[in-house]
Parts: sequence; C-alpha cells; structure tokens
Amino acid sequence: MPKNVSKKTFYVTTPIYYINAKPHIGHAYSTIVADVLARWHRNLGEETFFSVGTDEHGAKIAEASEKQGLPPKEFADIMSEKFRECWKLLNIQYDDLIRTTETRHKESVVSFMQELYKRKFIYQAEYEGWYCKGCEKFLTEKELVSGMCPDHKRPAEWIKEKNYFFKLKKFLPKIQQMICDGDMQIVPKKRENEVLSLLKQNLPDFSVSRQNVRWGIPLPFDPTQTIYVWVEALQNYISILGFSTTAAQQGERFQKFWPADVQIIGKEISKFHCIFWPALLLALALPLPKKFLVGGFFTFDGQKMSKSLGNVLAPKTLVERFGVDGTRFLLLSQFPYGEDGDIALAGCVERYNAHLADNVGNLVSRIGTMIQKYLQGRIETHPEKQIILEETNKSIEERFSALMARDQIQEALLSLFEASTKLNQHIEEVKPWKLAKTHPTILKQHLLSWSHTLHVIGRCLAPFLPNTGERIQRAFRGPEFQNPGILFPKIS
Ligand code: MSP
Repeated sequence: MPKNVSKKTFYVTTPIYYINAKPHIGHAYSTIVADVLARWHRNLGEETFFSVGTDEHGAKIAEASEKQGLPPKEFADIMSEKFRECWKLLNIQYDDLIRTTETRHKESVVSFMQELYKRKFIYQAEYEGWYCKGCEKFLTEKELVSGMCPDHKRPAEWIKEKNYFFKLKKFLPKIQQMICDGDMQIVPKKRENEVLSLLKQNLPDFSVSRQNVRWGIPLPFDPTQTIYVWVEALQNYISILGFSTTAAQQGERFQKFWPADVQIIGKEISKFHCIFWPALLLALALPLPKKFLVGGFFTFDGQKMSKSLGNVLAPKTLVERFGVDGTRFLLLSQFPYGEDGDIALAGCVERYNAHLADNVGNLVSRIGTMIQKYLQGRIETHPEKQIILEETNKSIEERFSALMARDQIQEALLSLFEASTKLNQHIEEVKPWKLAKTHPTILKQHLLSWSHTLHVIGRCLAPFLPNTGERIQRAFRGPEFQNPGILFPKIS
C-alpha cells in the first residue's frame, strides 16, 4: 500500500511500555528522543504522527495486578494513567496513545492474526523450553545463568504446551536482504551488525500463542489460546493507525503514515522489532519500517536500571530538581544515542550549571540586559550587517540540521551549546562596555547580530527544550525585546 505522497509525512513510534510498575527515566529517555524527532519534523513542515502506548497484557502484568489485589484491567487503568501523566510532566507532544486493552487494538490484531492463519503462515506444534516472565520470552540454556534470567535475576520456568507457530524462517533471507540494501535501516551500525549476526544463526519459528496465559487477546481461530503478548504488542504500531485487513475498514491514518519513518527501541528488544516484526509484516505483504533507532541502556550505579531490580530513578525526581527542560537536557546530552551510560546525580548538577545556567542562560540574560540598556529594548533589522549575520547563523543551523539528519541527536543538541559558548567568548573579546562609550553604532550592530544568533539557537533548541526554545525565540524575535526572565536558576 503506497504512502500518500501529497505532503511529506513523518511517523515516529516509541516502544509501548509494560505497566507492571511506574515509568522510570529509561522510558522517559526513549520517549523524549521520539518527541524531539516529532517536533523537529513538525517544524520542517512535515505532517507528523507520533505514537506512544502501554503494553498491558501477558503473564507479567497478570502477576503484578494479582500482587496488588486488583483485577488486571483495573490495575492497567491505574498504571497506564501514570505513563500518561509522566508524558504530560515531560512535555511530550504525542499525537495518540494506544493501550493494548483497547477494543480498537484488539480488533486490529484479530484481523491480522486471522489473515496470517488464512495465508497458512501459522501452524500448530508442541513447545517446551525455559521461560522468563520478566522478559515474557523463552530463553535458551546458554542464556541462563545458574538457571536464572540474567536480566531479571529470577529463575526461569520450564514450560511445555501446545502452541501455534509462525513460519518465521521463510522470511529471514528477505529481511537480511532488506537490511543489507538499506531498505530497512538499523542505527547505529553496531546494532545492525548484532541483528545480522542473529539472522545468520538460523532462528527457529516462533510461537504466537500461549496456552496457560489467560490475560490477553484470544486467538481468533482457537480461543482456548491467547495471542503471545509480544506478537500483539508489536502490532500496536499499526493498530493505532486503524489498521485492518478489510479494505473497507482500513484506517485513513494507516494509509497516510505507514510505513513508520523511525521506530525508537532499546537494544534488548531489537530481535523482536528488527526480525519478528518485519517477518509478520512481510507475511501480509505490508511495507517495512524505514528505520530503527536502537538506544542503549542507562545503568544506575553500574547496574541495569529495571523495575524488577527496584533501582529505578523516576523522571519526577529529576524534574523537581532540574525542571522539565533541565531534565530533558540532562537525559539527551549525557550519551550519544545508542550508547550505554551510567547515571550519577552529582554529575547532573555540574552539567546543568555549566551548560544551562552559566552558558545559554547567562548568554540570554547578558544580551537581553544590553539590548534594554543600549538599544532601549528595540531589536530592529540592520541592512548593512545582514550578510554577516546570515552567514554565521546559517552555519549554526546547517551544522545542526546535518547532525539531526544523521540521527546524531546528542551531537546536534551540543552543537547549539558550542555556538553559545563561542558567542559568550566573542562578547568578551568585543568588550561591549567599552564600545558603548567609544563606538555606540558598532555596539548596536553587534547587539542586533547577537540577538539574531540567539533567535536561531532558540529555534533549533525548541524540539529539545520546548519551553526554553520558545522563550528565547519570543525574546529576540523583535521588534520589541520580550524579557524571558531567568531561564535556568543556578543549582547548588
Ligand atoms: N513492552 C515491551 C515493548 C513492546 S514494544 C512493541 C517492553 N517494555 S519495557 O517497559 O520493558 O520498555 C522497554 C523500553 O524502555 C526499552 O526498549 C527502552 O527503550 C526503554 N528502557 C527501559 N529501561 C531502560 C534503561 N535502563 N535505559 C534506557 N532505556 C530503557 O520491553
């Protein structure tokens, strides 16, 4: 199904998060990255769709709700709301949030599974193996450490049951070819290599149903079985677009936005996303996502941060200390996207002060003060200086855009801080306080030039730090200077 090409569209997704516990900064990170891309593409004038969601079925959620003494749906209602609140807190501008317990998701998934069955890509067989409820997947003997799941540090369970299987093997060569031809990109390169090496291991077919998990969507052609939670979860990316196999019921959104331009995922779920998901799509002759951006993992004191291990850092803790844009900055600037990294709160205070309070914050306030003092708050365009201005600002914007186009998200953000550092240094060299006495006209030209540069920085910064970017742009848009106040109070 070709994508509607009348206006350039952009579709970005995040993983849908398990709701067995509250959101932590790992979830916040991937969601903020998606938000940055969505805001950036909206600014480029593209018709953008940004999806988020919650993964609410399966044994893990059933177990968590039981612990709370609540029916699973009631538990899911409460927990899903916590993710919604968290995205609001972090100023995430998503277009829609899908819950896998919603009817629209179930209907879409049922039609997909029915079609797979009709096309004979599903068969029945016995299955046995070690299962980790934390991962919601089977593990091989080799993956276990002393009988335990290495990620969740809990014993795997031996499961033997009748399952339905999907003919994965049939699609592996095609997926490999699409990756190698660049038709389905996996970024960064090292994650692509990991997926390619998995593909060479001759993966077995995978099961799409569970016999003993009741909390899920019944398999349409055998309701004694439940659809495997991962299989239905992956379909959220199209159920949110109103996907249906019946042409008359096909959602407009699906026709407009599928295939996704960028799917943000963490490295631990790349097998599901870069192999299983494309195989399911190929089986129904649907186009594959264009790109996966695979993120690394934050560790906390050197350990993987996870709900099961109980060493999580809540986004709210950071927001209370550093504000929303401060938190977004700290998470986005810490590591290049795709790398792992350790979180240390002490380092955050230093980075906040150095980059936000003392660099950009200071620059905005000193230029603002000078505009009020020497230009009586008027920012007027100045024809003679225009050319020089445009060249400087063009290079800031071009460098930034080139980095964004290469998915170098952290580098793009930091390039704006480099520009700000340079401008701060330049002001020191120019010595405006002296010029005010000796050459007031030259000082005026400089001030106009600097306020234009800040306007450009504000525009580029806006997808990352929306509130700050907007305040800077408003302040220096002219013709009247609008005092933005203190952007980032210093933290001790
Ligand atoms: N429900 C599945 C995904 C299904 S998508 C069809 C799932 N959920 S999860 O709640 O465990 O979230 C996984 C995603 O959250 C990761 O892929 C990653 O994007 C993000 N992170 C979770 N923990 C993280 C860190 N410690 N560090 C960085 N990101 C992490 O898997």
